[in-house]
Amino acid sequence: MHGTKYRITTTSQQQQLGAEMGGGADSHGHRPARPAIRHAKLKMLFVVIATNLVSVYLFSGASLSLNMPASAPSIHLWDSTALLRDLNATRDALSLARAELAFLRGQCGTSSLLLESVLAKLGAVHGDAPAVQDFNGWTEEPTGELKMAIEPHRLPLGYSVNFGTDELFPGLGFACRNFQEELTQYMTYNASAECPDDEALALQLMLKGCEPLPRRRCRPRSPARYVEPKPLPGSLWSIPADTTVNWSPYTCKNYTCLVERAHSRGGSYDCKDCFDLAGKERRRWLTDNGGPGFSIDSVLQSRPQGTVRIGLDIGGGTGTFAARMRERNVTVVTTTLDLDAPFNRFVASRGLVPLHISLVQRLPFADGVLDIVHSMHVLTNSVPAAVLEFAFFDIYRVLRPGGVFWLDHFFCLGPQLNATYVPILDRVGFRRLRWKASRKLDLGEERNEWYVSALLEKPMT
Ligand SMILES: *[C@@H]1O[C@H](CO)[C@@H](O)[C@H](O)[C@H]1NC(C)=O
Ligand SMILES: *[C@@H]1O[C@H](CO)[C@@H](O)[C@H](O)[C@H]1NC(C)=O
Ligand SMILES: *[C@@H]1O[C@H](CO)[C@@H](O)[C@H](O)[C@H]1NC(C)=O
Ligand SMILES: *[C@@H]1O[C@H](CO)[C@@H](O)[C@H](O)[C@H]1NC(C)=O
Ligand SMILES: *[C@@H]1O[C@H](CO)[C@@H](O)[C@H](O)[C@H]1NC(C)=O
Repeated sequence: MHGTKYRITTTSQQQQLGAEMGGGADSHGHRPARPAIRHAKLKMLFVVIATNLVSVYLFSGASLSLNMPASAPSIHLWDSTALLRDLNATRDALSLARAELAFLRGQCGTSSLLLESVLAKLGAVHGDAPAVQDFNGWTEEPTGELKMAIEPHRLPLGYSVNFGTDELFPGLGFACRNFQEELTQYMTYNASAECPDDEALALQLMLKGCEPLPRRRCRPRSPARYVEPKPLPGSLWSIPADTTVNWSPYTCKNYTCLVERAHSRGGSYDCKDCFDLAGKERRRWLTDNGGPGFSIDSVLQSRPQGTVRIGLDIGGGTGTFAARMRERNVTVVTTTLDLDAPFNRFVASRGLVPLHISLVQRLPFADGVLDIVHSMHVLTNSVPAAVLEFAFFDIYRVLRPGGVFWLDHFFCLGPQLNATYVPILDRVGFRRLRWKASRKLDLGEERNEWYVSALLEKPMT
């Protein structure tokens, strides 16, 4: 093929040129060019040669199909059929050639587009204005309260040293940029006035990963007839007054309804039983059941007396774990989300500390501070394994040396346990103090579903 031939020739030319550039200077006694410059020159030369090679190859390759049919048509003026056939053949060849040219033109178009983008990037490096507007990852330029809440603000002169930056950036979930329309709605309010009734919208954004939400400059509406909370320790087991909470977004508008819901059949509510403080909730963590149900007292007794004082309950529902710990003089913060009920205000009304963060949020504690972290029913196989692994490492991080992680009723399928979850826990580096895996008992059904409860220690060293 012509193309191949040309390539061979030019490659040998290249080698020749290279030899001249490299060896020639020395043999003539000249000072060799500085290596950097020489390299640059060499590179330029190769670019020129390579570009030529490409054109040569394109033209030689193209000429192959531009050729008329191998047997050149002899003129058959007397034979109209032969003439037609020849004309047909010629026309076919021409249309083929035209298609090929169009293809080549397309390729040239692509190359020049590439070149344009490279040039544009070079321009950007040199400080030219970008061709397309970029709003820092936002689809539109943020305006109004949203802009105020998310833009960095300049620090007063002399204070930048403390922060290591000239500007103070607000805390804002990275994923918020993906939901600008909803976020804009959330940030549309009258400043210094009452906030819109939009708790459901806020929760939706949080659950999608827009966490933390931006701060707002408005006042959430207080309930019309707020009742002061009961004093401790009575508040631990009291249902707050129905008028204590505004709860417009969901079907159950007050605590009476939520407690009754616990006894109703049907409905798949999160933590359905847990508002009924006189029912099942009252018996939780009081006795060891020989299986995955550990009692709080047996867990506390496994540690030196009095060394468990502060902790965290992840996904703690209405706060009963923290209430039981409080009765044992242990202060436990409860993370809970207001999924179809005002969990946070319920926990608070009991005199316990609610923390409004989701599972994916880095725990707002410094390294090595907590004596205990407990979690029941939320860290399960419904959480993507990678998210779970980061969560376990974060729990390890906030525990002090000798602190314990009580993984309570971790749910998964039989094969997943040894294949996925045990290796994850091993990677985190906990030491097992207690481990109980047992098959979940479902009336009549033979499913390979398991509960694991574990008491895991962060090693002392
Ligand atoms: C030439 O091509 C036309 C259609 O493209 C066809 O109808 C005709 O039969 C062809 N003639 C010969 C001689 O091949
Ligand atoms: C802002 O206040 C005006 C007047 O009081 C009211 O009509 C409007 O609905 C408010 N806007 C929002 C977003 O709350
Ligand atoms: C509580 O809410 C339910 C509906 O959710 C309503 O029927 C009931 O009247 C309310 N009770 C009180 C005391 O507000
Ligand atoms: C909790 O602390 C109080 C006051 O310090 C003490 O009287 C009580 O016995 C303690 N309770 C337990 C279970 O340790
Ligand atoms: C997991 O592995 C352990 C030890 O190898 C074994 O005893 C246990 O039965 C396994 N569990 C499941 C659910 O397969």
